[in-house]
Amino acid sequence: ARTAVVIPAAGRGVRLGPGAPKALRALNGTPMLIHAVRAMAASRAVSLVVVVAPPDGAAEVKSLLDAHALPERTDFLVVPGGETRQESVKLGLDALPPDHDIVLVHDAARPLVPVDTVDAVIEAVRDGAPAVVPALPLADTVKEVEPATVSGEPEPVVATPRRARLRAVQTPQGFDRATLIRAHETVTGDVTDDASMVEQLGLTVVVVPGHEEAFKVTRPLDLVLAEAVLARRRL
Ligand code: CTP
Ligand code: MG
Repeated sequence: ARTAVVIPAAGRGVRLGPGAPKALRALNGTPMLIHAVRAMAASRAVSLVVVVAPPDGAAEVKSLLDAHALPERTDFLVVPGGETRQESVKLGLDALPPDHDIVLVHDAARPLVPVDTVDAVIEAVRDGAPAVVPALPLADTVKEVEPATVSGEPEPVVATPRRARLRAVQTPQGFDRATLIRAHETVTGDVTDDASMVEQLGLTVVVVPGHEEAFKVTRPLDLVLAEAVLARRRL
């Protein structure tokens, strides 16, 4: 079973503040996207990485990848992305050659995921799950609210789901290729991850243990944490 990874990297990174597109921002001197691609290529099972670049940045991303050596076993492709993450993933899937039956989807914004997490996701798909997500228990209690119509107004709490049953979901998420393609062809509406599209097909998604270092770089403080993790690894 050959495994390909689609890396959506086309977002602007609005929450990170002004600057280059998030995937191209440096972490200890190396673009976040390169860290993310290396994290995927670290798995011996991964033979192809499809990077979905900012719409006007495909050439720049291609030359970045040419300049940073990957293992010989790993090929890469670069395609331009879309307006939403969901569109970007779909554009990546459209570029996949036919000979890969397992597909992972991994955010460029999670540059530090350890290889053991990648391999655990692949293993669970090989064992027959149509969709697999790495996830962690929550530290914070979560409340559902009635969102304020005027920003800054206090928001009434609607419910408090039992924290012990909640998981914070990470990437890479792993899929049987045909299932993921069917999900992207069938499911419409707002989604924030790929596995939820497979849930909407009525299939069971399973969770494997995630990792603290698979956190998403979203806000400025996350850059500080990511650089500290890299320094601890001496990278
Ligand atoms: N992404 C993408 N295409 C988009 C939007 C997002 O490929 N149109 C990618 C991002 O590049 C990122 C991943 O989806 O690797 C997760 O999205 P997120 O962390 O929200 O990144 P951004 O959308 O860039 O950040 P923000 O929401 O703060 O603008
Ligand atoms: Mg976003």
